[in-house]
This record gives sequence, C-alpha cells and structure tokens, in this order.
Amino acid sequence: MNYKANITVVSLVALLVVVCGGAQAAPVQPKVIQLAAADVSDANIFNRNLKKPKAYNLPPAEDGIHDAGNDATHTLQKPLEAYQGLPTTEFGNRIDWVQSIDKGLLKPRWDRVDPNEEPFVMDLDIVRPVKASVPDVVFPHRQHTEWLFCSNCHPAIFIPQKGANQISMSAILLGQKCGVCHGKVSFPIATNTCKKCHSKPKPADWTPPLSEASVKNPWK
Ligand code: HEC
Ligand code: HEC
Ligand code: HEC
Repeated sequence: MNYKANITVVSLVALLVVVCGGAQAAPVQPKVIQLAAADVSDANIFNRNLKKPKAYNLPPAEDGIHDAGNDATHTLQKPLEAYQGLPTTEFGNRIDWVQSIDKGLLKPRWDRVDPNEEPFVMDLDIVRPVKASVPDVVFPHRQHTEWLFCSNCHPAIFIPQKGANQISMSAILLGQKCGVCHGKVSFPIATNTCKKCHSKPKPADWTPPLSEASVKNPWK
C-alpha cells in the first residue's frame, strides 16, 4: 500500500472541505475597533504636567488623594469652603496663592510648635536668558521663600549659583527642576501660565543664536 498517496488523498479532501465550507459561510466583516477618548486619555498618565486635570478642589473624600475609608478624612474642611474670598486665577486650582499672601489673606505658620516663628524671605530675582525667542525666565526668590525654606530647593534641586543649573522645558515637563513643584503643588505649565515664568521681554537688539554650521554655511 502506498502510504504517501494515502496522505495526499486525505489532505485533498480536507482542503476541499475547507474551501467549500469557506465559500458557503457569510462574508467575514472586518472588525472595527472604536477607541473612545476615555480609553487613551491616560496615555501620558506618568506625566502629570501633560495630563489634563479632570476636576479640582473636590472634597477630600473624592479627590483621589485622601483615603475615603478613613473617618478622619471626612472631618477635613472642604477646599471650596476654605478658599472663600481668596483671589482667583484661570489655572491650577484656580487660587492665586502669591496674591493671597501679598494681600495678607493668608499667613502660613512656619513652625509646628512656635506660632510666632517668622519666614526668612529673600527678595532676589534670577534672570535666566533663554536661547529660544520666548521671553527670558525670571525666577523670583521672594514669592518662593514666602512658602518654602532655602533647603526645599538648595542644593537637592538647584545648586545655589546663577547659571549653574541646566534647565529646559523638557526637564520641567518630566517633573524635574521647576517641574518638581510646578504642576503639582504650585501653578501648572499651561498655555496661560507661560508668561508667569517667561516674564522678561527679550532685549530690543536680540537675534536668535546661530549654530556654527549655519555661520560657516558650506553651500554658499
Ligand atoms: C523654589 C526653589 C528655591 C528656593 C526655595 C530658594 N532658591 Fe535660591 N535659587 C533657586 C534657583 C532656581 C536659582 C538660580 C540657579 C541658576 O540660575 O542656575 C537660585 C539661586 C540662588 C543663589 C545664587 C545667586 C547668584 O547670583 O549666583 C543663592 C545665593 C541662593 N539661591 C540662595 C538662596 C537662599 C538663601 C534661599 C532661602 C532664603 C533660597 N535660595 C531659596 C531656587 C530656589
Ligand atoms: C515654571 C516656570 C515655567 C513655565 C510655566 C514655562 N516655562 Fe518655559 N522655561 C522655563 C525655564 C526655567 C526654562 C529654561 C531657561 C534656561 O535656558 O535656563 C524654559 C525654557 C523654555 C524654552 C527654551 C527651550 C527649552 O526647552 O529650554 C521654551 C521654548 C519655553 N520655555 C517655552 C515655554 C512655553 C511655550 C510655556 C507655556 C506653555 C512655558 N515655557 C512655560 C520655565 C517655565
Ligand atoms: C520647591 C517647589 C518649587 C520649585 C522647585 C519651583 N517653584 Fe516656583 N513656586 C512654588 C510655589 C509654592 C509658588 C507659590 C504658589 C504658586 O504661585 O503656585 C511658586 C511661585 C512661582 C512664581 C510666582 C508667580 C507669581 O504669581 O508671582 C514664579 C514666577 C515661579 N514660581 C517660577 C519658578 C521657576 C522658573 C522655577 C524653576 C527655576 C520654579 N518656580 C521652581 C514652588 C516651586
């Protein structure tokens, strides 16, 4: 008996069954995958600076930060109630915290034990010239030291020396440098906040810096 021929016959039959069966079946519909915005909205969830905030100033039990199962959470004052009368903004949690202190509406307590401890406010602006055509950055020490100790930034985040730190927008958007706080505990990076940091107009005679390659143009 021819063993090989037998296998060929069996395979042919199998093939016929597949082909005929296929021809009789209803045409296969291509599967359409519909992606809702909600499915992809967390594509950048690792980067809080690129994530669109859903809501702000929710009661502690609903804000996703506090433990709703803990009774103490429910005894906390609701933000909207606490923020009554404070000056507002168009971004972040909609409160202008710098103005709130400047107008004397808030007085942060500087020591857990001593309520009379005074902050060490330093009024020193650091101008960071930006190579791009956007206005230069002014880092104001005053507004920061009304809330923070020097050690909140020096030396872990910034070496205390003008120009000694490499800062870029990419680093900030990834939560480094200014982005350690901005977008988290202080105003976010948004189209309506660029001007808060980029506040110094370029000098009238400013021209964009040219790279060595464009100066020594070999095609001229
Ligand atoms: C929010 C962060 C932050 C806080 C808080 C802070 N600084 Fe700074 N400091 C900076 C940055 C940013 C620079 C600029 C660094 C650069 O240009 O590379 C700077 C620069 C400096 C410089 C260098 C000035 C120069 O002209 O070279 C000194 C000195 C300094 N800070 C002292 C202090 C002292 C003292 C305090 C507390 C009273 C303080 N800083 C609080 C962020 C901070
Ligand atoms: C929290 C402060 C802050 C905010 C808000 C901010 N920037 Fe910047 N930006 C900086 C700093 C600091 C640098 C670095 C400056 C330097 O070269 O030292 C920078 C640099 C830049 C540069 C130069 C290229 C680079 O990446 O270094 C561009 C362009 C720029 N910012 C655009 C923007 C735009 C557009 C916005 C608003 C969407 C914005 N920035 C918001 C602080 C800020
Ligand atoms: C350790 C946290 C921290 C870091 C780091 C930090 N900031 Fe701030 N910044 C704050 C806080 C807190 C405020 C006050 C509250 C607010 O305005 O949101 C503030 C306020 C400001 C203001 C004042 C806005 C106003 O209304 O007057 C500017 C401008 C600013 N930051 C720029 C910067 C720049 C530029 C950098 C990086 C070189 C930086 N900050 C780094 C925490 C920080």
